[in-house]
Amino acid sequence: MNFHILTLFPEMVLGGLNTSIIGRALKSGLISLEAINIRDFSNNKFNKVDDYTYGGGAGMLMQAEPVYAAYKNVEDKIKPEKKKRVIYVTPQGYPFTQKKAKELAQNDDLIFLCGHYEGIDERVLEEIVTDYVSIGDYVLTGGELPAMVMIDAISRLVPGVLHNEISAETESFHNNLLEYPQYSRPEVWRGKKVPEVILSGNTKEIEKWRLEQSIIRTKERRSDLYVKYEESIECIDALKKNKINYADIINLFETGRAEIIHKDDSQILVQDIESMNYFYVVLDEKAKACDVLKLVEQRENQKSDFKIVCHDKKASKIIEQYFRGNVRKEEYTQLVYTQKNRLTIKGMKHPKVDVDNSVILNQEKILAKANICTNDLTVVSSICVDENDEFNLFDRQTILTALINYYLDLGIMPIFWMKNDDLAYYDEAINKTYLYEAREKVNIFFIDK
Ligand code: ADE
Repeated sequence: MNFHILTLFPEMVLGGLNTSIIGRALKSGLISLEAINIRDFSNNKFNKVDDYTYGGGAGMLMQAEPVYAAYKNVEDKIKPEKKKRVIYVTPQGYPFTQKKAKELAQNDDLIFLCGHYEGIDERVLEEIVTDYVSIGDYVLTGGELPAMVMIDAISRLVPGVLHNEISAETESFHNNLLEYPQYSRPEVWRGKKVPEVILSGNTKEIEKWRLEQSIIRTKERRSDLYVKYEESIECIDALKKNKINYADIINLFETGRAEIIHKDDSQILVQDIESMNYFYVVLDEKAKACDVLKLVEQRENQKSDFKIVCHDKKASKIIEQYFRGNVRKEEYTQLVYTQKNRLTIKGMKHPKVDVDNSVILNQEKILAKANICTNDLTVVSSICVDENDEFNLFDRQTILTALINYYLDLGIMPIFWMKNDDLAYYDEAINKTYLYEAREKVNIFFIDK
C-alpha cells in the first residue's frame, strides 16, 4: 500500500507517522509514505497557493492550479493498472468508519489531499477527488491530522503490519461489539482485583465472560451498534440452519465483514464490505424479492456493474427474473474445509510454496497472488479461481494448497469457490488423505448496467 499526501506541511505528517507500528511497517516496506508539498507547485514567485474567495467571505482559499499540479506529479508516477483513490479530508465528507478503512485498504495507492485556510477551489476537487471523508463532526485547522488518523487505521489492515493478523479482526467493532476489558500484572492494584475468571485458565469460561462484557459495554456506550449486533445474531442463527451451505456468509458475519442490507423472516441480503459483493439468501418460499433487489439497484446507482452471490435455487431464480437481460450467471463449487490438518502438495510443477508464518513478505506474496486469481471475489478466507487469471493451473493449485494450510494455521476455516471446470485438475493435485471437505453449489450473478 502506497500513501501519498498532498499538503502544505509535509514535516507534520512524515514526523507523525514514523514511529511505532506504522514506522516499523514503513521500514519493512509493507507500506510506503510520501508527502508532497503543494507549495512547490505554486506558479507564483512568492510561493503563494491561496487567494481571496470570489463572492466574499472570510479567509483565503487554496487555488486550483497548485493543487492540480501537485496531484498530477503523483498520479503520473502511479501505473494505470493500479487501484487508486483520491481522498479529500474535509468536515463536509462522509464519516470515516472501520468499514471505510477496510474499503480503502483494498487499493494499491491512496492519495490524501489536505486542505488549509477556508478550503480548496471546488473545480479542482471536482476534477480529481474520488472520496470526501471526515473524521468527525468537529472542525480542525487542517487536513493533516485527519489524513494521519486514516492512514493509521488503514495501515493496520494491510496484511503483515500487525504481526498477529488475527488481532485486526478480533478488536473493537468486530461483529459490531466493542472490545471487552483487559488486565495485566499485578493481580491486585490499589485494592482492585483482576476478575477471578480471567485468572482461572479456563479458556471457554474466559471467552464466555469476554463476550458478556463486550455486550454489556456495547449496550451501555453504543446502543446504535448493539442494535446492529442483535440483528447480525438473528441472521447467523437463521444461516446456521444450513451451516455448510452458508459457511461463507456466516464467516463474513464472524469476521465483521457483513453489512445487513435487508432481513426479514424469509430472506437476507448482506454486502461483504471488503469485496463489495452482495449475498442473497432465500429462507422460505414466501420471499418477495422485488423491494430487496430494488435496494441493491439504488445503492449501485452510479456504479457500472456488481455481483450477487446465491446458494439457493429460489434466490437464483428471483435474481434471473428481476434482472432479466442484463445478468450473467457463473456456476461455482464452494469447498469448505472442516478439519484442521495441513495438506501436502503432490504432483506440482513447483513443488513447494513456503507459507512460513514468520516470513511475512512470503505470506504477502501468496495472498497477493491469490487475490489476482480471485478476480476480486475473495470472501474472508475464500478464493475463487477464474479462468482468466494469469496463472496456470499448477500455480493455482499450489497457491490453493498453500492458502488452505495458511488459514488452517491461523485457525480460520478455509472456504474456496472454484469454477466447476477446474475441480478435476484440483482433485488430482490435492492430497485428500487428511481432508474433510464439503462441496456446495454457488451461483454468481454479474449484473451489468
Ligand atoms: N479538516 C478539518 N476538520 C476535519 C474533519 N473533522 N475531518 C476531516 N478533515 C477535516
